[in-house]
Amino acid sequence: MAYRHIPVMCTEVLEYLNCRPGGVYADGTLGGAGHARGILEQIAPDGLLIGLDQDADAIANARLLLAGQAERVRLFHRNFADLAEVIRDLGLKGVDGVLLDLGISLHHLQGSGRGFSFLRDEPLDMRMDVRTVQTAADLVNRLKEDELQHIFQEYGEERWSGRIARRIVYARRSQPIRSSGELARLVCEAVPGGRRARIHPATRVFMALRIAVNDELDRLSGFLDQVPEMLNAGGRLCILSFHSLEDRIVKQRLKAMERKPRRDPGPSDTAGGPEEVLKILTRKVVRPGPDEIAANPMARSTKLRAAERV
Ligand SMILES: C[S@@+](CC[C@H](N)C(=O)[O-])C[C@H]1O[C@@H](n2cnc3c(N)ncnc32)[C@H](O)[C@@H]1O
Repeated sequence: MAYRHIPVMCTEVLEYLNCRPGGVYADGTLGGAGHARGILEQIAPDGLLIGLDQDADAIANARLLLAGQAERVRLFHRNFADLAEVIRDLGLKGVDGVLLDLGISLHHLQGSGRGFSFLRDEPLDMRMDVRTVQTAADLVNRLKEDELQHIFQEYGEERWSGRIARRIVYARRSQPIRSSGELARLVCEAVPGGRRARIHPATRVFMALRIAVNDELDRLSGFLDQVPEMLNAGGRLCILSFHSLEDRIVKQRLKAMERKPRRDPGPSDTAGGPEEVLKILTRKVVRPGPDEIAANPMARSTKLRAAERV
């Protein structure tokens, strides 16, 4: 049976993408296809949606959910860092809008069986794309103590990163750590106050490991490098992020593209000044309203940024 995901800030996303009938739009993070269905409605009757997800489950699920509109949809089990190549392979010069809704979906937490949730006891995998080789268990059992500490500190902003890394390294001497339940228990043992904390003590460690396993920040940077070549003039980019590091990368890179130095100023180019590639549409980051947060607590930390290709 197909699964769904409540699309976050859907009204705002569709507005910023400026979806028009007949346009070509790409959703780089299909997930439960919630935004994708919204886009398809707005670009009917003849618009085209290109959908990517690095998780095969999401692609299979989207095939079911979007079956009624299959002739207007092209789905790819690919990383969004490959989007420019996918667009070229389809014979297109560019698209009219691109959406990224970063992170994992509810399916990952509740139905994937891959150890994304500290509330479940599952194999410690955390790969969104199971074709890649390195699992969370590999990292937890093989990295040196200071490398683990670095991941927890850098990607999770975890205050107790040193204690947690030490506890893990001590525990794995007797036997490898294989499940999400085991890891969650070790973190609780390492953190002062343990399970009495307001948020589960393993929240940040699980997020940090997931980011490391899926190489999430590098993939995002790789995608942003290609934005100028994938958008038609006037085309829109809309990115939803949930993590301050992701949002910082998006913010800085959009700013840099607003004033991008010319690669090879020609002889007639006396000004030789920076060329504008994007116009930022969200001077201030856009956040979900209180009603949406009340209805969907997963939306709480969402940050939306959007820009238009000049
Ligand atoms: C938050 S969900 C998207 C939910 C979707 N917008 C909806 O309305 O149902 C994020 C999805 O992006 C996928 N994803 C994350 N990083 C990716 C990447 N680098 N390339 C492709 N897909 C990615 C995940 O597998 C997940 O299915």
